[in-house]
Amino acid sequence: MSHFAAIDRVPGDPILGLLDAYRIDTNPAKLDLGVGVYKDATGLTPIPRAVKLAAQRLLESETTKTYIGGHGAVEFGERLLQLTFGSGNALLADQLVGATQAPGGTGALRLAGEFIARHLPGRGIWLSNPTWPIHETLFAACGLRVEHYPYVGADNRLDVDAMLDALQRVPAGDVVLLHACCHNPTGFDLTPRDWKRVLEVVRSRELLPLIDFAYQGFGDGLEEDAWAVRLFAAELPELLITSSCSKNFGLYRERTGALIVRASHHDKLIDLRSQLASLARNLWSTPPSHGAAVVAEILGNAELKTLWAGEVDTMRQRVADLRRGLVEALRPHGLAERFAHVAAQRGMFSYTGLTPEQVARLRDEFSVYMVGSGRASVAGMSEERLDYLAGAIARVCEA
Ligand SMILES: Cc1ncc(COP(=O)(O)O)c(C=O)c1O
Repeated sequence: MSHFAAIDRVPGDPILGLLDAYRIDTNPAKLDLGVGVYKDATGLTPIPRAVKLAAQRLLESETTKTYIGGHGAVEFGERLLQLTFGSGNALLADQLVGATQAPGGTGALRLAGEFIARHLPGRGIWLSNPTWPIHETLFAACGLRVEHYPYVGADNRLDVDAMLDALQRVPAGDVVLLHACCHNPTGFDLTPRDWKRVLEVVRSRELLPLIDFAYQGFGDGLEEDAWAVRLFAAELPELLITSSCSKNFGLYRERTGALIVRASHHDKLIDLRSQLASLARNLWSTPPSHGAAVVAEILGNAELKTLWAGEVDTMRQRVADLRRGLVEALRPHGLAERFAHVAAQRGMFSYTGLTPEQVARLRDEFSVYMVGSGRASVAGMSEERLDYLAGAIARVCEA
């Protein structure tokens, strides 16, 4: 008997498949706008200087590789809470928020999904349509009922009214996943006014928000991007937040993130954290240490923190410049108005509004690789290639 004979092959991740196709493309003009990692002007995903310095210090000072606890490194948790909520936030002094370290934002989302499945049985989770594809598969893998609320209309614009209308009809108690900033894949973010409206619906429908905070610093700034998270944490007694240090610390492969819980009472927070440690024990036992130790070192040292914050500013500024640059490069083709939204969007991605056919032509005729939905990773562009890209877009947009 073969134990494995009946097991079929599944298709690979479409975004990673795109990367493979890009790799074997021999066109020297090729452009990878698929994968969501930040690249500098030389096409490299750099290790921030602050991360290098912190890692060097750790190499010298580290004395053991024994396990860290179920919630991860204490200093990491404390400093991440300060970064998320602001160091003077009363929620910290009142000990109403706690961070459980996880392997990246994905690990934090998985822990959140397992927590909901185990302790809030029967609750559905509502995702924006569209959302990061892993949200769909990850929560389904946790056994949750996955539902959707509209986010972007057919005209490729954020449709807050449709979103609120749908949330009004969500069963009480269900979980609603919100992107704190830099919505993936669209780049369309809620305004402060929109957030307040969402908060009112969440409150009146008694929904539990799960805020995915994967791009702090990539939208409008480290503090600015935390605005909605802080609003919800101040206004609601119960809340889940997943934080990722992959993009803003450039720690992608070190798998660094946390699930943050806001509870109504300190005692309840302790109860919840005991459950999270117990769930994590069955998932990854204890989290990886290096990335979190680097983050704790940076956030705990004024000099390193300033250096790092400056590097985050540089990354954000570069992506914003590329957005504006692309719109300008499209101007001579008469397409600046049509693609004006690219400059207004935030974060690494842009829902360009290009059709799957246009995306296919960009790939086949110009070796420009992006996801079929028309999502382009702006962080993958480079200044000197903007004219080429604009020319290619203009060609595929011709009637
Ligand atoms: C919306 C969103 N959430 C979470 C993550 C998780 O990131 P990681 O697991 O690499 O920290 C990502 C990464 O692309 C993302 O785009």
